[in-house]
Amino acid sequence: MFRIRDVQIDPPLILAPVAGHTDTLFRQAVKGLGGCGLVVSELVSTEGMTRQLERTLHLTRFEDSERPVSIQIFGSDPERMAASAAMVEQMGADIVDINLGCPVKKVVKQGGGSNLLKDLPLLECIFKAVRAAVTIPLTIKIRTGWDRNSINAVDVLKLAEDRGVEALAIHGRTRCDMFSGRADWSVIARVKENAGIPIMGNGDVLTPSDAEQMFRETGVDGVMMGRGVLSNPWLIRQCYDHLQGARVVPVTLEEKAAFVITFLRRVQAEIPAPVAIGKMKKMGGYLSKGIPGGAQLRERIHAARSCDELLCVVEEFFRPENLAGCAGDPPEDSDSEQEEFSEFSCRHSS
Ligand SMILES: Cc1cc2nc3c(=O)[nH]c(=O)nc-3n(C[C@H](O)[C@H](O)[C@H](O)COP(=O)(O)O)c2cc1C
Repeated sequence: MFRIRDVQIDPPLILAPVAGHTDTLFRQAVKGLGGCGLVVSELVSTEGMTRQLERTLHLTRFEDSERPVSIQIFGSDPERMAASAAMVEQMGADIVDINLGCPVKKVVKQGGGSNLLKDLPLLECIFKAVRAAVTIPLTIKIRTGWDRNSINAVDVLKLAEDRGVEALAIHGRTRCDMFSGRADWSVIARVKENAGIPIMGNGDVLTPSDAEQMFRETGVDGVMMGRGVLSNPWLIRQCYDHLQGARVVPVTLEEKAAFVITFLRRVQAEIPAPVAIGKMKKMGGYLSKGIPGGAQLRERIHAARSCDELLCVVEEFFRPENLAGCAGDPPEDSDSEQEEFSEFSCRHSS
């Protein structure tokens, strides 16, 4: 357990923000599985928020069952950032988080996301403006630096601490690394050593032993997980069990089926159809990873032309008599699909 001022993060395991995926429905579903001490929204454009765009404001939706909940904003204009942070506070979020890690061209070109790691004077103005605009805890999420020749996470930490930022999450890659190679946990450890505020470590935690190793090697206060949870929503719960010394119970295909079907039905019921189908395809794709016959299921999911058809495909696949046929198949190697992340698929709303 750790605290971000008065917000208790217990257990110290955090669902990372993942654009296009960690919306309120997914966060509620993960939270419901247990073990998760904090959820963070996908990045929300301050341009869109201050222009009151409905499709942007929709991304800030959350339910009480998710608490504590952090809403992440991005942008580069101090005034818009401050106004958006104030809106986040008004909505009743527990924490406001600033995105300083997004590597996507569209965001970086407008000066936001990881671009701010290169412009500390502007970053300082943003911190001042946002800090003055909210009373709730303020946190940031960074990468280690712009590129390997300009790793400056400790400088960013110091600036942030001086300006009233109350916790920092760090993904152990530079902007130029995008998602290639391995996250460099040694920079995370260096940030933690120099920090007076809580630090959340992030990058490549895919198993309970990875989480344990990250705590041990870096000394971080919390471990944040993203991609691993998309294909295995139980990951955070499993990490919790492992860290408690309990046996990690493998998830059965039946449990996975129940989760996937309930989740997809909820997406279909609560999200307008044109958006829902895209979301269902993405999530169906992730959730079918690592299961016997998953590749064929993904093909059929991607070919579906409506939400109803997609649900039929999934329900058919998970029917007990059909599952029995796959029981002897080996599970897929989910690592083989990591290349999908080379193009970071942020959805932008401004
Ligand atoms: C498709 C995708 C979307 C992402 N969206 C966001 C985002 O909105 N905000 C953010 O701070 N990080 C975002 N990230 C980065 C993740 O939060 C995380 O830092 C990164 O994936 C490394 O952690 P992991 O190895 O546990 O996935 C995104 C990553 C991916 C792959």
